[in-house]
Amino acid sequence: MHVQHDREIWGDDVHEFKPERFVDGIVNATKGKGSSPFIPFSSGPCVCIGQNLAMAEAKTAIAMVLQRFSFELSSSEETRI
Ligand code: HEM
Repeated sequence: MHVQHDREIWGDDVHEFKPERFVDGIVNATKGKGSSPFIPFSSGPCVCIGQNLAMAEAKTAIAMVLQRFSFELSSSEETRI
């Protein structure tokens, strides 16, 4: 939990919801770049045993939402692309 909330790694906006920080891939999401401290399921002997289930559930939920709604960029997002 501390790694995911560390200002030294993620920057002063660490507590902001900014999915765009991953736009260039996970390894480029942090201040240091080039390594991957994004470990929401931990790693090593204490790694989450539900990781694959959790990811499958998340993908299923997103797919269900995408089937039911249509999306378009807001005008502010269009100017950033
Ligand atoms: C987004 C969803 C989830 C996240 C972010 C997550 C995250 C984590 C993390 C960080 C740990 C390590 C905790 C520690 O080091 O003390 C952990 C352990 C664990 N998780 Fe998850 N988890 C998720 C979903 C699930 C699901 C769906 C299951 C079961 C169906 C599950 C079962 C477990 C179990 C049993 C452990 C303990 C593993 C062990 O100590 O041997 N988790 N999880």
